Amino acid sequence: MHHNSGIVKALSFSAAIFLCASPGAFAKNFKLALGDAQGGTQWELGTKFVEKFKEKTGGKHDVRLFPNGQLGSEQDTVNDASIGTLDFSILAINNITPFSPTVGLFTLPYVILSLDDAIKLTQGEVGKELTENTLRDAGVRIIGWAYSGFRVLTNSKRPIKTVGDLDGVIVRVPKNEIMIATYQSWGINPTPMAWSETFTALQQKVVDGQDNPYITVHAMKFYEVQKYVTNIRYIFSLEPLIVSESVFQSQSDDVKNAILAAGQEATAHSAEFIAKSEDAIRKALMEKGMQISEPADGEKEWIDKATKEVWPKYYKSIGGKEKLDRVLKLLGRG
Ligand code: MLT
Repeated sequence: MHHNSGIVKALSFSAAIFLCASPGAFAKNFKLALGDAQGGTQWELGTKFVEKFKEKTGGKHDVRLFPNGQLGSEQDTVNDASIGTLDFSILAINNITPFSPTVGLFTLPYVILSLDDAIKLTQGEVGKELTENTLRDAGVRIIGWAYSGFRVLTNSKRPIKTVGDLDGVIVRVPKNEIMIATYQSWGINPTPMAWSETFTALQQKVVDGQDNPYITVHAMKFYEVQKYVTNIRYIFSLEPLIVSESVFQSQSDDVKNAILAAGQEATAHSAEFIAKSEDAIRKALMEKGMQISEPADGEKEWIDKATKEVWPKYYKSIGGKEKLDRVLKLLGRG
């Protein structure tokens, strides 16, 4: 009897040591940074991810969302996740490209022309390859995607329909070479600026315009400082959910699996969310006084200039012209 209880004590002692030593054994409060305000596609993806992650870990771990760039600019969050001081972030793909150039494939103008294209690319072989490249180049793992819709152009000056109408309009762009080159192909020099500074710059008229999806324009209340929208479709906005690879690798297998599965389920939710809410949001923006114009001639001049001038400049950084050809073929346009 006495002998047995000694064994039990010894066993529970070693179990306690094992628990202490095993990674992820303690309940943890992870942090998830969002560049956007509450209410956009980043928020939808983030809240669904948290719900599913908590479900899968039996409520043992929690993830807290920090919207509105509270944890730094979107590009800063990639650095922080890379060195392991931040756990998760959701940010626009264009703000990852500077760290992992092949991701530029997803910001080349007029490659992704629909939500279906976006889903096909992110969830197939191409997405897998870009996820591996981002892991290698930036130390962050893409575990989910928000589908945010086309980046439409907004400005406070006047309706813009033709490329020529851009003349004299100062447009803010992310610090992304491909987007800068696209506006240059349309004849103007845009102003690269961090997302976290954009609302104030529009409000103070340091810049006249910017581009982002309808849902982001709404979540960020840009209708308070912008009147005109041009319904261009040059980039379909993808916003990856990333996890710091060092944080990920320090988790138990159960937590790792919960992170990956929750990321997939949140991604499926994001696709449903955009499909059902974009129209209503566009209407809500019109009710707030925004005036929406279609680009002239079915966008032909915008498309011709951007694809002819920008694509060839980036063949090398995206991994060769063959990469783009493969993607176009996959999308039925090769
Ligand atoms: C940007 O314009 O920098 C991004 O699209 C902002 C965002 O994440 O919504």
